[in-house]
Amino acid sequence: MFTTPRLTLLATVLCCGAMAAQAQNSAPIKVGLMLPATGTYAGLGTAIENGFKLYVSEHGGKLAGHSIEYFKVDDESDPSKATDNVNKLIKRDNVDVLVGTVHSGVALGMAKAARDNNTLLIVPNAGADAITGPMCAPNIVRSSFTNWQPGYATGVAAANKGYKKAMTITWNYSAGAEAVKGFTEGFEKGGGKVTKDLNLPFPNVEFQALLTEIASQKPDVVFAFFAGGGAVKFVKDYAAAGLNKSVPLMGSGFLTDGTLQAQGAAAQGILTALHYADNLDTPRNNAFRKNYAIAYKSNADVYAVQGYDAAQILNAGLMAAKGDLAKRDVITSAMRKAVVDSPRGKFTISAAGNPVQDMYLREVKGENNEMVSIAVKALADPARGCKL
Ligand code: PHB
Repeated sequence: MFTTPRLTLLATVLCCGAMAAQAQNSAPIKVGLMLPATGTYAGLGTAIENGFKLYVSEHGGKLAGHSIEYFKVDDESDPSKATDNVNKLIKRDNVDVLVGTVHSGVALGMAKAARDNNTLLIVPNAGADAITGPMCAPNIVRSSFTNWQPGYATGVAAANKGYKKAMTITWNYSAGAEAVKGFTEGFEKGGGKVTKDLNLPFPNVEFQALLTEIASQKPDVVFAFFAGGGAVKFVKDYAAAGLNKSVPLMGSGFLTDGTLQAQGAAAQGILTALHYADNLDTPRNNAFRKNYAIAYKSNADVYAVQGYDAAQILNAGLMAAKGDLAKRDVITSAMRKAVVDSPRGKFTISAAGNPVQDMYLREVKGENNEMVSIAVKALADPARGCKL
């Protein structure tokens, strides 16, 4: 067959333009993981990364036809380094999507950068209320919780147990303050009264003076927000002071999540509220825990679930756009509309971008946080200040 030079040129343009588009469509997606790899929250960062990668590997290493290329930054849970760290991923590595982080103060810096640069951001832990409150944006979605949510549910559960007088104790930064605010709201709505808030700087673990104050005031219950290495130390110190025999300890579930092996006997019987419980006996949770244990030789926890669900939410957006990253509006709106089939149970995402989810009351038994009841069904964060 003969072709004129003009037709050949046209054929070349058609052929190679299509090929270039195809190459573009199947190019790896660059995922920027900004998580703590050092410090009190290091273990939480590992579990989130493991969970995210487990979902991807269960899907043959691809989301919507794209392989995934990871770029990593250790954020050290240090808010003062947040802007520099997130810019390494946005400006140097040119990532398509940011996934991070654990610490609310760092996540606030990430959310600002994501808004300023219109970068997709999936928050797989940090509960800073503002991220899905005044800072809410279509390109930001969370697979985890707001700090208010488990705090509030714990307050409801404590009031239901008939406690009247509570003290709170936490680190002095946004996550602790917001968890305490949520607890106070739930507890006082149920007829209780918070008589004193105690705190210390993050990530300090010198609890002794504060434990002495609890012992002298003898409230009916103590509410605590601590996580990671700090939670291990707090629960052990509480028991070592003998307080676990006299003043029941409750908390946002992070107090006993991913920590039980290290806390051992000191944690037994502690009641917490969270959007996950280890022994949820559903095919989804059982398969997830089994696959996680095989892949990582350790037990899944709430952080692993949140990492896994971050990947699910990204996948929902990408599938709706048939893998075309240029279809930003399709991706962001599908991420919001996703009904996430999570190991925690199915959940939806609010207009502000935060999970609407059941909050379980859990009790520590051995190395598990076992579900006792549903503390609050389908709890939505009030998303105060979000205008979308
Ligand atoms: C937070 O800083 O928002 C935070 C950190 C660790 C947790 C939960 C919340 O386990």
